[in-house]
Amino acid sequence: MLENRSRMNFADGKTSRTRLLEITVNGEAHEITAKPRVMLLEVIRDKIGLTGTKDGCESGTCGACTVLLDGKPTLSCITLAVECEGKTIRTVEDLADGDNLNYLQEAFLDQGGTQCGFCTPGMLMSATSLLEKNPKPTRQDINKALEGNLCRCTGYNSIVDAVMQASGQGVKTKMQ
Ligand code: FES
Ligand code: FES
Repeated sequence: MLENRSRMNFADGKTSRTRLLEITVNGEAHEITAKPRVMLLEVIRDKIGLTGTKDGCESGTCGACTVLLDGKPTLSCITLAVECEGKTIRTVEDLADGDNLNYLQEAFLDQGGTQCGFCTPGMLMSATSLLEKNPKPTRQDINKALEGNLCRCTGYNSIVDAVMQASGQGVKTKMQ
């Protein structure tokens, strides 16, 4: 376990303070030097190198940057990284086991729930959180859980079908 320490660096004599952050993503601990106002999205993508989480609007509107913070869907583009120390962070890279997609990812493929794919990581994380809390959601439950995730390809019906399939609720496979 990483020891708890932080530091301020005033080496340039101005206002550019840096701090040592301890962030655990997908069960792996990382020590990162960053300014206090850096967002979690930047840490995940640019400092840790997990680029599955997408950078869409950077303003909390599109949901492309959704990760799970202590199990709750969270917009990483408007979440300060410093607020995430000591919390459990999961990204889309946590879903597959190596090259083997998980049941939800397979369902997205079966149902054609992915077109350009830009919204898919955020959709998957919101749906993962839903299914962990509610293994048999209704279509209404799914719509509610995904309402913060925008799909510019407008593939919403297929995405909802995919989550229904993943929950074992009788949606037939569309794509082979
Ligand atoms: S990139 Fe975060 S909500 Fe759009
Ligand atoms: S699949 Fe293209 S944005 Fe949703």
